[in-house]
Amino acid sequence: MKTFPKNFLWGTATSAPQSEGHSLQNGKSETTWDYWFKTNPEKFHENQGPENTTNIYEMYKEDCKKMKEIGLNSFRTSISWARLLPDGKHVNQEAVTFYRDYFERILEEGVQPIINLFHFDMPMWLMEKGGWENRESVDAFAFYAKTAFELFGDLIDSWTTFNEPIVHIECGYLNGAHYPAIHDFKKAVQVGYHTLMAHTYAVKAFREVMPKGRIGIILNITPAYARSEQPADQVAKENADLLTMKSFLDPAVKGLIPEPLIQLIKKHDLAPETMVSDKEAIKENTVDFIGLNYYQPLRVQAPEDPHFPAQDPEDLFAPYDWPEKRINPYRGWEIYPKAIYDVAMMIKNEYNNFPWYVSENGMGVANEERFLDEQGMIQDDYRIDFMKEHLDYLYQGIQEGSNCFGYHTWTFIDCWSWLNGYRNRYGFYRLESDKNFTRSLKKSGLWYKEVAQNNGY
Ligand code: BG6
Repeated sequence: MKTFPKNFLWGTATSAPQSEGHSLQNGKSETTWDYWFKTNPEKFHENQGPENTTNIYEMYKEDCKKMKEIGLNSFRTSISWARLLPDGKHVNQEAVTFYRDYFERILEEGVQPIINLFHFDMPMWLMEKGGWENRESVDAFAFYAKTAFELFGDLIDSWTTFNEPIVHIECGYLNGAHYPAIHDFKKAVQVGYHTLMAHTYAVKAFREVMPKGRIGIILNITPAYARSEQPADQVAKENADLLTMKSFLDPAVKGLIPEPLIQLIKKHDLAPETMVSDKEAIKENTVDFIGLNYYQPLRVQAPEDPHFPAQDPEDLFAPYDWPEKRINPYRGWEIYPKAIYDVAMMIKNEYNNFPWYVSENGMGVANEERFLDEQGMIQDDYRIDFMKEHLDYLYQGIQEGSNCFGYHTWTFIDCWSWLNGYRNRYGFYRLESDKNFTRSLKKSGLWYKEVAQNNGY
């Protein structure tokens, strides 16, 4: 039996834009997702947009009971900025009523909520002013964060600022998967910098409003694995670690932007506009914990013919197709559970054993209805194996002293996922979005319940 530490968090994660539904109702204003779907529905898998998500807005009362049914003692979701502050200034009272009741019911079930503030859902009113490209977004986010802490801080003591900030930067400003879908490396760096400052000032607001709570940030970090020990491949690895991992991890935990990252960005003429007071603010506003989302590793090699100065991250580290990789046949992503152990050791050794938890880990499966049995239950043994393999490595890391306090899967109930709509299913409950949003428990939910109840397996 592998027994996890006392009070270990067994949870799942989702986000407001992917689970609430009612995207243009109850006083919520448009986000970039609503706007993009309205103007380009064909980009979205099977034309499924953000209005039609898991419908937690209407069904949260039953859903909170379901959390208990599968033994969760923790749950992460986010607040929708555009729902809480539709114009960025005035509070939407309907949103306050909804979130307070939702959070109270989670707590009533004995489940500890962790509430995140931003999961890729930029309000359209701010996007029209340039979004994260505009320094104004830093103050706007800090104001939103402060408002949320004041309104819900009596109920919620664990908060996070951003989910995977690298993703809205990369997808919005480099690879075209998120609005505004432009390709401009320099703008991407500026957007990243403003996101970091927004995080920093949200932490500052937190310390003022909630001296007793805990605040963190959720990052999709994986130490990059290089093709070889050759110096050029090792430089690619260092570049990848600096840009995709240390760019947020070091400021959040150590209170500084790593000098090699500053030099790399300068060398390639990518330096963002900054303010003199920023450095001190970063230093003073470190977090209490970090969440790490892990799905698949980053494998890199030296780029063959890079542009100088770099026009793209691929000029600094190119993707490497590792021949031995094991693939999830239902999603196409690599499965490499050992990375969880490597991360655990990295945080222990390079970040002074900082407290962290696995904030997302999960297996996406397309056309999952093929695994329905005669009783209507998805027999997702592949997902149980996936979780178990990752937990084995996490356990090993904890045995070797890593300060990990929880494991959250992605996700609770199958949810809508950006351009991928409902293509890849991850939930413990299957969702039938065309049949009154019915939820039915999968086999993995039963397995997870046992693990959570026994604090191990
Ligand atoms: C995570 C994101 O990285 O990946 C989620 O935080 C997303 O928002 C999840 O839904 C799964 O992505 P996909 O593309 O497989 O649906």
